[in-house]
Amino acid sequence: MSNHSGAPLTLLCLASYEKGHRFLEEAKNLGCRVFLLTSLSLKDTAVWPAVDDIFYMPDDHHEWNLQHTLLAVSHLWRTQHIDRIIPLDDFDVEKAAALREHLRVPGMGESQTRFFRDKLAMRLRTSENGVRVPRFVHALNYEAVRLFLETVPGPWVFKPRLMAGALGIKKCYDAQEVWDHIHRVGDDQGLYLIEEFIPGDVLHVDSIWFDGQMQYAVASRYGAPPLEVSQGGGIFMTRLLERGSDLEQGLLQLNERVLQVMGLENGVSHTEFICAHHDGRLYFLETSARVGGAHISDLLEYSTGINMWTEWAKIEVACATGGGYQVPSAHSEYGGLLVSLARQEWPDTSSFCDPELVWRMHKLHHIGFIVKSHDIGRIDYLLHEYAARVRAGYHASAPAQETARD
Ligand SMILES: Nc1ncnc2c1ncn2[C@@H]1O[C@H](COP(=O)(O)OP(=O)(O)OP(=O)(O)O)[C@@H](O)[C@H]1O
Ligand SMILES: [Mg+2]
Repeated sequence: MSNHSGAPLTLLCLASYEKGHRFLEEAKNLGCRVFLLTSLSLKDTAVWPAVDDIFYMPDDHHEWNLQHTLLAVSHLWRTQHIDRIIPLDDFDVEKAAALREHLRVPGMGESQTRFFRDKLAMRLRTSENGVRVPRFVHALNYEAVRLFLETVPGPWVFKPRLMAGALGIKKCYDAQEVWDHIHRVGDDQGLYLIEEFIPGDVLHVDSIWFDGQMQYAVASRYGAPPLEVSQGGGIFMTRLLERGSDLEQGLLQLNERVLQVMGLENGVSHTEFICAHHDGRLYFLETSARVGGAHISDLLEYSTGINMWTEWAKIEVACATGGGYQVPSAHSEYGGLLVSLARQEWPDTSSFCDPELVWRMHKLHHIGFIVKSHDIGRIDYLLHEYAARVRAGYHASAPAQETARD
């Protein structure tokens, strides 16, 4: 596989967490030269597919110094050309943008990337374009915050603009609690926003984009809202929505609108919405330019045959070579995913043996399943039943920090 000037097409993939194996494999299958830049702390544990070279960045709990990252990649650049820089984890998205800007590599730059990482930028961009969002305010100007808390009824969420995994989100029931958080974070208050808490079902749409056009999308609904799961120690569940239902159709349309407004050109997105209990309407929650985490890509692959990582790799190669992209034909089964922390180190799951069970998680102190069927009712039944059995015999809860980045 060669780039426009006939040299081997070279991708530099960033992975501060162990992610994106299928992307790396597919890029190699397609004949690319693949370099991986990853966290030094993963050196002895991560098992990566065969790539052309792996470089390590010293990290502090997976965080890299951006200046050092620029220097490291510039050093590599002295002897290697790089056609594309690909962030495999959400936290790598800004680093990739800064590198692209500095080295003038095509792809999303820093302002564009804001719409996929910065929750304040997401709120402003969508609300300015007529998309319904929870009412919000930047947690910075005291008068604006005071007015917001007086006019928008609580509860509210005080949330970091740039985190993931519901890390740092605080639900507040009275205005003083909000002020306490503002004062607690001090000079960092500009890194937060405050928004009304909208009780409802949390949904997600995972989609594939090429040349500014949506190519493919699947809509799903989480069991309990992710905030309850990560901070309340619940069981994580999600399942595909009934195809053709009003909710599914409404979500697919809104997802397309949101990502057009954000200007997504090429790649994949995991975008979340709330279907509010009080009015039944859809509110945009957040978006990203990445594959959905927590084994959602496995759920989608079992249900539809389409792997988001693999498709993303094909899209990057098509963009870099000026080629076309066609999404493979999907099959349309339904699937459900359940993941929980387990009390047991390696839980014995042999009593779960329904024919619909297609995947089990093998991870220390975890239990997890994917079920698939043509019958969505059967998926609901199995998830419900498995959740009860997991709660009774396996479930453990841990502090939010420990579970949040699985
Ligand atoms: N305005 C809101 N109203 C109701 N629930 C909310 C609101 N904002 C956030 N939440 C809850 O918090 C969860 C995490 O919020 P959000 O997706 O914005 O942050 P995140 O840190 O990116 O989380 P994740 O990485 O888990 O998606 C949501 O899934 C939802 O359960
Ligand atoms: Mg989210």
